[in-house]
Amino acid sequence: MERERQYVMQTYARYPLVLQRGKGCYLWDVDGKRYLDLLSGIGVNALGHSHPRIVRAIREQSVKLVHCSNLYYHEWQGKLAERLHQVSGLQRTFFCNSGTEATEGALKIVKSYGNRVSPEKNEIIALEDSFHGRSLGAISITGQPKYRKDFEPLIPGVKFVPRHDLGALEAAVNERTAGIVLELIQGEGGIYPIGEKMTRTARELADKYNALLVLDEIQCGVGRPGTYFAYQLLDPPVMPDVMIAAKPIGAGVPIGVIMTNEKAAAALPAGMHGSTFGGGALACRVGYECMLLLEELMPHIRQVGGYFKSQLVDLSRKFGFIKEVRGQGLMLGVEIEFPCKQFVTDALAEGLLINVTHEKVVRMLPPYIITEREVDRAVRGLTRVFKKVGKTPA
Ligand SMILES: Cc1ncc(COP(=O)(O)O)c(C=O)c1O
Repeated sequence: MERERQYVMQTYARYPLVLQRGKGCYLWDVDGKRYLDLLSGIGVNALGHSHPRIVRAIREQSVKLVHCSNLYYHEWQGKLAERLHQVSGLQRTFFCNSGTEATEGALKIVKSYGNRVSPEKNEIIALEDSFHGRSLGAISITGQPKYRKDFEPLIPGVKFVPRHDLGALEAAVNERTAGIVLELIQGEGGIYPIGEKMTRTARELADKYNALLVLDEIQCGVGRPGTYFAYQLLDPPVMPDVMIAAKPIGAGVPIGVIMTNEKAAAALPAGMHGSTFGGGALACRVGYECMLLLEELMPHIRQVGGYFKSQLVDLSRKFGFIKEVRGQGLMLGVEIEFPCKQFVTDALAEGLLINVTHEKVVRMLPPYIITEREVDRAVRGLTRVFKKVGKTPA
């Protein structure tokens, strides 16, 4: 911790916890204390820690080929892209290394698509309280002033609308709109589903005005909602033109993807985009294994996610300060009446890793392999944390 303070840029406010190893849903610190991981590295370690099949894939691939650049082919990029196509219904994938990098690429697709129609078609619609990453492009469409204010001026032509305001969305979209960017369940913004009406209206408006619908599934997708992607929760699904995903795909190995239909892919022909590390052999091999495991886990995610949510709803009946329990699958939020960052520290003492987002929302993104027994353990820990507030359960 001292070395970090001396040599690492101080961009993060870290908790005083030095983690050393992990197995399944548990992590151990350097003193040997065990923690139940309800956050999965902010949605990354979706298969838990040291999953034997992921460890084996890393081992086998690391002694064969880690990276060879996108000047050549390797065995795994095509296989992973094919698998992603099968589960998403989208035709093409561009591989990169993080959510933010995927957002940047999606913005370039939107800009290029608009430019091909007309030089005036350069506006982007995004939502208030959204989060799309930390690069200049990503914060340009992130509807939270705290991430933007020190870096103005950002990309011009971005309009923000409140997440449930259909009228505002309709008023914002016009012939100049090149793209509409949505998270179907806002993560950083407090685990808020934006709802079917808003999603379908965005699709209709994008069609009406020849704009691209971009869905950011970086936090709410890749199995977390109990379907491969959040747009598949709707029946019939609302298909995006562009979808970006990252976090769990590499089970901890960095990988991000931009997926598109043919129309959107045509806006980014050869030479217009690239990424040195993107789609490396190791990342794609692990991503492929992860997608196989995901297929096996999908019914479990729905089942255990439903169980976890019902337990949290029970908890909300016992503690009057819980305003609402939200979320889908294993993306769950508990909104508290007051700012509750203290819960994170209290939970650490209880051996639980949780997070508070948007000041008042306890956010849980547990590994997909979590069991009901582990959920019970989590709920017992949370009960002890909530009791510390001083209000006794009814
Ligand atoms: C919805 C969403 N988009 C984009 C990002 C940025 O992803 P990354 O941190 O991998 O760059 C995140 C990260 O939390 C996210 O939740």
